[in-house]
Amino acid sequence: MSIKILALSVLLPIIMFFSTLSQAEYGDVVINNYSEEAGMRPVIFPHWFHRIRFRCKVCHADLGFEFKAGGNDINMLKIIDGEYCGACHNGEIAWSVESCNLCHSAKPGTETQVHESTISKLLTNQKPAAASTTGGTKK
Ligand code: HEC
Ligand code: HEC
Ligand code: HEC
Repeated sequence: MSIKILALSVLLPIIMFFSTLSQAEYGDVVINNYSEEAGMRPVIFPHWFHRIRFRCKVCHADLGFEFKAGGNDINMLKIIDGEYCGACHNGEIAWSVESCNLCHSAKPGTETQVHESTISKLLTNQKPAAASTTGGTKK
């Protein structure tokens, strides 16, 4: 009995660790302002993974990340220049930009969102009515 519990308490974290390796999980930020338009899969930013390693201030003050999913105008030139993700993903603090698929890892078609957040659930079907601004019928 107690051995089973012990075995479980060892195995569970391992299983949980491996299950986080592929898909967006709770709290991850999916960023897709430009990726898919440019032929890349959307980006998954694993927020908790980073939050336990760095203080909020490092990213949200020093590096200037806005507190909003998709609220930063990020592109690869800036990253390669050492801005945003590129401040760390430069082959020194963390693996470099060559590993495209480690960042561009979301399922195609995933919108910018905080994965599984209440607000993203409520908003999933509310796309902005872009068509109404293009037609000739003004109110
Ligand atoms: C450290 C994470 C990271 C890596 C590695 C990475 N990207 Fe990106 N990339 C991003 C982020 C974040 C954005 C902005 C996402 C958005 O708004 O859609 C982005 C945007 C893009 C865009 C659209 C904007 C632009 O610059 O044209 C393209 C294309 C792109 N990446 C290609 C690549 C390619 C090719 C590689 C590998 C050589 C790569 N990325 C590696 C994080 C990364
Ligand atoms: C390694 C960098 C990094 C660290 C450390 C970090 N964040 Fe973030 N945070 C981001 C990025 C990147 C985004 C998404 C921005 C985007 O989509 O353009 C984000 C988004 C957010 C958001 C909006 C999305 C959401 O989940 O509601 C909040 C709030 C937030 N961060 C709070 C925090 C807090 C609080 C801490 C510290 C406990 C923290 N962050 C630490 C990089 C970081
Ligand atoms: C403050 C430094 C910092 C910033 C900024 C940062 N990262 Fe990271 N990131 C790291 C470190 C350190 C690791 C762990 C690297 C390792 O294990 O070798 C990591 C790992 C990752 C991983 C792999 C997570 C896993 O489960 O192994 C992804 C994906 C990732 N970062 C994406 C991003 C994206 C996308 C951005 C920008 C939106 C970003 N990171 C910005 C430091 C940073």
